[in-house]
This record gives sequence, C-alpha cells and structure tokens, in this order.
Amino acid sequence: MSDAYHTPVLLNEALGLFITRRNGTYVDGTLGGGGHAEEVCKRLDDGRLLCFDADADAIRYASERLKPWSHKVTFVHSNFRNLKSELAARNILFIDGLLLDLGVSSFQFDEEEKGFSFRGDERIDMRMDRGQALSGWDIVNTYDEQRLADVIWKYGEERNSRRIARHIADRRNIDTTGRLASVIESAVGKKHLIKTLARVFQAIRIEVNDELRSLQNVLDDAVELLLPGGRLVVISYHSLEDRIVKNFFRMQAREKIPSGHKYVPDTVVSPRLRILTKTPQAASEQEIARNPRARSAKMRAAEKLPD
Ligand SMILES: C[S@@+](CC[C@H](N)C(=O)[O-])C[C@H]1O[C@@H](n2cnc3c(N)ncnc32)[C@H](O)[C@@H]1O
Repeated sequence: MSDAYHTPVLLNEALGLFITRRNGTYVDGTLGGGGHAEEVCKRLDDGRLLCFDADADAIRYASERLKPWSHKVTFVHSNFRNLKSELAARNILFIDGLLLDLGVSSFQFDEEEKGFSFRGDERIDMRMDRGQALSGWDIVNTYDEQRLADVIWKYGEERNSRRIARHIADRRNIDTTGRLASVIESAVGKKHLIKTLARVFQAIRIEVNDELRSLQNVLDDAVELLLPGGRLVVISYHSLEDRIVKNFFRMQAREKIPSGHKYVPDTVVSPRLRILTKTPQAASEQEIARNPRARSAKMRAAEKLPD
C-alpha cells in the first residue's frame, strides 16, 4: 500500500530515535495511514506495537496496510488521552516508547465529508471520532460570541478573533465550511484571507477534539509508563502543540526547582527525562519539496531516566 492516505513526515529521523529494543512494547498514538507504524513493525523482532487512533477510518485503512505484521500489532480505536486505561485493560503496565505525530492526516483533511477544510463546502464537522457528540457545527452555531472569540484567539492566535466571532454570531445558522469561510471573509476582507481561514479552522478543530488537553494528558501518563531508556517522540505542526511538548520536557528534565529567593536554596529534584533534541528537528528541504506538509513539522524526543 502506498502513501495515498498520508505521507509520513520525518520517518527515518523519528524511527532512528524511537526504537531502543527490538523486542520491546511500543505505542503509536496517532496511527493515521500507518506509515510510521509500518516502519516500526519492520524494525521489531519479537516486539509489539499498539496503534491508537480516534478515527475509525484510519484504523480500517491501516489495518489493511499492516496485515503482514498483524501478529505484532494491536489496534485501539480510542483517543490517546486514554493511553493508561487502554493499556491497563490489556495488562500492559510499561512501554518502551510512545510516538505521537499530531494533528490530522492528509486523508482527513482532504476528505470533504469530514468538514476540516475551508476549501470544501461540507457540513462543519471536524470530529476525529465520529462517535463524539460535539462537532464544529455546534461550536460555530451554539457558542456565545465571547466564548467563540476566546476559542479563535486561544487556539488560532488570530488577532481579529473578536470581529470574526461577532460576524459569526450575527449570521448564524452557518451550516457549511464554505459558508463559514465566506462569513470570515466578510469580517476580515480578502487580504491574508487564506492564513486567517487556516487559523480559525485550526482553532475550531482544536476545540472540537480537545487536542491540547489530550496532548498534556498523554504526556503526563507516558512519563509514568515508560521504562528507563524508553523514548517519547513527538512531531507537532503548530506552535501551541510544540510549546506544550517543549515545556513538558523541560519540566521533566530539570534538576532543580528555583526557590526564587536569594537566601533560600533551590530544591534539588531527580529528573525523569533526558532531552535528546536540544532544538526541535525539522524536515530537510528535500522532504519539504516532496511533501509540503512537512514544512511546519517539529520533532522533539526525550528518554526516560531510571528512578
Ligand atoms: C498526522 S496523522 C498520523 C499519520 C501517521 N503517522 C502516518 O504515518 O500515516 C494523525 C492521526 O492521529 C489521529 N489523532 C490525532 N489526535 C488524536 C488523539 N488525541 N487520539 C487518537 N488519535 C488522534 C488522527 O485521527 C490522525 O489519524
């Protein structure tokens, strides 16, 4: 099977950092089209890979792709924020690595029916998990103006958030992605429109899927589950995600908590992670030329230290 569904980003770079024991237990928290997962399977001997995705289409597609390795792979149709409980349900208490390649796949983005893209004209959906009640439609049509402005500001970092929220609130019901795009255009005009649309749609998507809280939860759990020497590898695509990963790694890697007072000594603590990427790794120019989606990718990795 090819990369028609999604071309994996930073594939060799991520895998080079990820696998430390060929017989270990690994988790791919973001299966998508299975590009990273397939490569993990190839590099494992007796090891095992658990693959999470909130989107049933991804599980369906990738389970075909990974059929040659079905004896090594377990599919988990669940949000990765449930990592700990899903592993416990399978009697797994420790893992050798967690890989996260965040956001949505090209398939999800391009599939108009999923309502992620401002280029189509479909119902505003944006749910990764179709079993979830809250969709983009609910946010656009039921959040009050203030709450909507906060979402657009917080998750889109869009400086015209208030004006856009006012235009949306004044013009509902807004059923489709095309209609939402034209309401946003009425608020901000044509200048920089594409970037504004990208920011507002990103904000709604993050709110629908509660993406940042899920990320924080899974990082907190992963550090508990990782065996010493086990690795956490995270590829993110926007600054909000990257900031969470960067701050988490820094906190877990620190050796002292500053007292903040000249005469009070700092508290010495045992670091739990060793950061492997001092600066985040980006894709090469060649990869970006082949796959423009790789342009915004930033990869960070850390290793669990012994207790
Ligand atoms: C960028 S794609 C991953 C692509 C994959 N690495 C590959 O090589 O094909 C991200 C995938 O993660 C899933 N995803 C994102 N956030 C998730 C979450 N919190 N829980 C479970 N799945 C999630 C999305 O549904 C999507 O299929």
